[in-house]
Amino acid sequence: MLLKPAGFILLTFTVLGCKAAQTERHDVRKFPEGFLFGTSTASYQIEGSWDVDGKSENIWDHMTHNNPCVIADCSNGDVACDSYNQYKRDVEMMRELGLDFYRFSLAWPRILPTSFPDLISEPGSQYYSDLIDELLKYNIEPVVTLYHWDLPQKLQDMGGWTNPHIVDWFADYARVAFNLYGDRVKYWITINEPREVCYQGYGANTKAPALNIKGVADYMCAKNLLMAHAKAYHIYDQEFRSKNNGTIFIAYSAQFYEPETEKDIEAAKESNHFEWGLYAHPIFADKGDFPPIVKEKVAAKSAEQGFFRSRLPEFTPEEVDYVKGTSDLFGLNHYTTFLVYRNESVQGTHDVPSMHDDLGNVHYQLSEWEYGGMSVNMRVVPWGFYKLLTQIREDFNNPPVFITENGYSTFPGLEDTSTRIAFLRQYLSALLDAVDEGSDIRAYSVWSLMDNFEWMMGYSSRFGLYEVDFSDPARPRTPRTSAFMYKHMLRTRALDWHYEPDTTVMTIDEGH
Ligand code: BGC
Repeated sequence: MLLKPAGFILLTFTVLGCKAAQTERHDVRKFPEGFLFGTSTASYQIEGSWDVDGKSENIWDHMTHNNPCVIADCSNGDVACDSYNQYKRDVEMMRELGLDFYRFSLAWPRILPTSFPDLISEPGSQYYSDLIDELLKYNIEPVVTLYHWDLPQKLQDMGGWTNPHIVDWFADYARVAFNLYGDRVKYWITINEPREVCYQGYGANTKAPALNIKGVADYMCAKNLLMAHAKAYHIYDQEFRSKNNGTIFIAYSAQFYEPETEKDIEAAKESNHFEWGLYAHPIFADKGDFPPIVKEKVAAKSAEQGFFRSRLPEFTPEEVDYVKGTSDLFGLNHYTTFLVYRNESVQGTHDVPSMHDDLGNVHYQLSEWEYGGMSVNMRVVPWGFYKLLTQIREDFNNPPVFITENGYSTFPGLEDTSTRIAFLRQYLSALLDAVDEGSDIRAYSVWSLMDNFEWMMGYSSRFGLYEVDFSDPARPRTPRTSAFMYKHMLRTRALDWHYEPDTTVMTIDEGH
């Protein structure tokens, strides 16, 4: 990622007319009737107990144990927040906040230690059953992600998401989960962030399994992942929906790509197509399939480079139909925005072959866009969220949207008024701007309930509404100022720009 100083594109912004914050226009803005609020986490990031009760190794255990300092602080998720033992305290925090739902993920190798359905771990599957019961006891809706990146290492040894057999492996695992929990879970998310799974894990080395086989493995993964998702969707739709009456969808990570100048408008459209349209178009576009421009560009580059076929695998017409329409909601994780340009200087700057070379653009952020914690590529750009939501409404016929993640990282410390609270207010206000213009946004979830293992950043980057003390074996959790602000927002169902929470005691309100 590149950075440019402010002055460079000042003119551009006036020309393109960014919908900066209409934000402080209203002091108090109401959320729509029935809008749901929650927080999100993921198994490897919080559970710990990595080898307890028969759980087998996943790709993150494998990577962090074999190459510890690939993580910024040389840490791992062996203990993490110890939620395998402390889930009751986690639910207590949710009651303090007054959440409508809690989004968490199941660890595939905890439920299926062999990776396959021949052995369902009794204690491993009981853990999630107990968590679900504890949530329901307090009227907190479980929103369950089947796959949030902790692939069984055994499956990775057989190629992981690049092996087309994963379509069946994943579908079998999904069926086990629907059987175990389908009576109590009404919201299922198949896969978290296809782009991070495929591009970062297979096309780069910024997530496990860090294969870094650019412009080949990432595209193979994309097709298999979409087929696996679709198979799980069809199983739910045909065998479980009528008796369990639930909803099933996929959660994308989509950052927004904004043209630097008017001459970059096409280039920015292509960035959106390559970065997240690759995964959204096959499911949400009327015609399905990968975006035509991505197919064309990868095929042309592949031919130029001497490949006998496109590096982007094709869907057959039957597969296009099989994948199209397989998501009841548009799950969206969003954090930031990039500016895009394309000119002669871009040539030769990307690895060949690679997705970024196929695309042929440069993405960057402005140095004066604020960022928190150590996540320098997650700068605060609320108008990008508004534009992204508008684009989803316009391109995909206004699908119902579930914001499955949005959040801000800080350094340790409880006071986060000018950082996380400011971020949440600006992004939620941008969301309400999109709602005012007709976007069908149903729910919003903060990443994250508490600090946790932040992948390559380890414990150095803190996303929690609750701080976790990782130096204490008891892993105590303490509410940040933002936890009090979020609680107030949920209680009033309104965004109040000027509310200053009293942070002396956190209590559970009546009815929670
Ligand atoms: C992921 C989370 C992660 C968060 C913050 C998302 O990409 O789904 O697991 O912790 O971003 O980086």
